[in-house]
Amino acid sequence: MCELTFTGERISVITAVINQKGGCSKTTLSLNLAAAMAAEGKKVLLIDADPQQTAQDWAAVRTTPPTFQVIGLSKPVLHRDLPRLAADYDDVVIDGAPRNYEVARSAIASADLVLIPVQPSGADFWASRETVQLVKESHSFKGTQKAAFVVSRKIGRTVLSRNIQEALAGFELPILKNGTTQRVAYAEALTGGTTVIEMQPYGEAAFEIKRILKEIRA
Ligand SMILES: Nc1ncnc2c1ncn2[C@@H]1O[C@H](COP(=O)(O)OP(=O)(O)O)[C@@H](O)[C@H]1O
Ligand SMILES: [Mg+2]
Repeated sequence: MCELTFTGERISVITAVINQKGGCSKTTLSLNLAAAMAAEGKKVLLIDADPQQTAQDWAAVRTTPPTFQVIGLSKPVLHRDLPRLAADYDDVVIDGAPRNYEVARSAIASADLVLIPVQPSGADFWASRETVQLVKESHSFKGTQKAAFVVSRKIGRTVLSRNIQEALAGFELPILKNGTTQRVAYAEALTGGTTVIEMQPYGEAAFEIKRILKEIRA
């Protein structure tokens, strides 16, 4: 269980979803995990740290307000401002920005748990190096911080899916047992301003997200 950030009023858990590569499922994972946390009855804040504002655009196309708060903050001040912002929430999820070293470093510095989504492809594996480096630097002065890879968009029991597990092992960070597979429900939910948790609460995609949440809670 990760160390909790005590913000004065509530004890908040700050989870940062970070990878310097675009398209590896950061926003999908962030929004769906936030929805799953909210469905547990938690008060959840999602920080959109990406200047492309995907999570904010997602919130804007919704017909009903999200079940969690969405705030845009794409500046390297997260580690300074988050303790105050997090004070009213049980869980904070940071949807990280690709190709932004300073924002990623700030997000990692503020987090209790760092999740690094990687698709089973060489491009994602190579691009994770910098994120892993940032996490290891952060560990050296925040020893209680936890970090793990989450394999995203797996396609069945392919050689690629097995290879990524073996390749990631070399980074000496844990790999979550649970991940996401390639499912149209994730893309449909994102485009429709919803989440798989709301759209199909008993669907396979929702179960994938709930299993990831259960694993990180434990
Ligand atoms: N498990 C998945 N199955 C199918 N499509 C996915 C999955 N995860 C992400 N996507 C799609 O891939 C694209 C990139 O995902 P996104 O979460 O925006 O990545 P990032 O935030 O890392 O750039 C989006 O169109 C999203 O709908
Ligand atoms: Mg994104």
